[in-house]
Amino acid sequence: MSVSRTSQAVAVTRAGFDRPHSQAGDPQAQLRLCAGMRSRALDHMRASLAARTAFFDDQVTGAIAAGIRQVVVLGAGYDDRALRFRSPGVTFFELDHSGTQADKRARLHAILAEDESAGSPAAGEHAPVLAAADFTSDDVAVVLAGAGHDPGLSTLFLCEGLLVYLDQVGTVRFLASVRGAAAAGSLLAASLVTHADGLDSDAVVARGNARRRTAGAEPWRTILPAAGQSDLLARSGWRIVRAVDAADLGTGADPGRSLLVTAEPAG
Ligand SMILES: C[S@@+](CC[C@H](N)C(=O)[O-])C[C@H]1O[C@@H](n2cnc3c(N)ncnc32)[C@H](O)[C@@H]1O
Repeated sequence: MSVSRTSQAVAVTRAGFDRPHSQAGDPQAQLRLCAGMRSRALDHMRASLAARTAFFDDQVTGAIAAGIRQVVVLGAGYDDRALRFRSPGVTFFELDHSGTQADKRARLHAILAEDESAGSPAAGEHAPVLAAADFTSDDVAVVLAGAGHDPGLSTLFLCEGLLVYLDQVGTVRFLASVRGAAAAGSLLAASLVTHADGLDSDAVVARGNARRRTAGAEPWRTILPAAGQSDLLARSGWRIVRAVDAADLGTGADPGRSLLVTAEPAG
């Protein structure tokens, strides 16, 4: 599997945002992880990515403040939060396809080596744990257990910009396996791509892919009305406790295109 170009483009765009960081965190983390990438910022998606980024940053800082000690980033790409929100006692796990993980691992090693030679060797103690997985076939709970994740401890799971790449059957199977690793008190934060009621979802997906240069290698698969997306989560064992349209976060994102949800294990 080759490196995800969509995740590089998203990361390069995010590197231009002004964002919070923890006391021990690295405010330059996103820029440093993107060093040498040839992707250009996605100007047409800047507003929706700004909303999405603020939402997920908030989920991570809120969970850490509430005492959650495990953060699992699913479809992590070049997510920088393990470095940006580095905090004593908190472990970040990052899962993605093997090709992207290999490139991310090399970039992380370079950053940690730089920090070490600059006299901050402690940064290495909080490095994220990377594991390769294909969410269309692997059981996330098994992959996480192999990486040292404790399924008995509450965890924040992030699915940022991921679920649009899985089909509906695959989404339910994947989220159910995430649910299998979710102790009581865990939370799932996810971005869901939506369209207005009454449109043909397959046609919306096809039109979206026709406009994307990366659609060949990384096609979108699931865009649904908000109710359809919520139904997928419910069928996977997750109960939505908060949902916000990206347009309501004040970045200028179009309404009705992206739903940002927080869910808890049901039952
Ligand atoms: C648009 S990128 C988002 C990356 C990151 N979450 C972010 O927001 O910067 C989607 C990511 O999901 C990963 N991904 C998509 N389908 C996957 C699958 N079946 N198994 C594992 N990773 C997958 C891609 O490799 C890519 O890194």
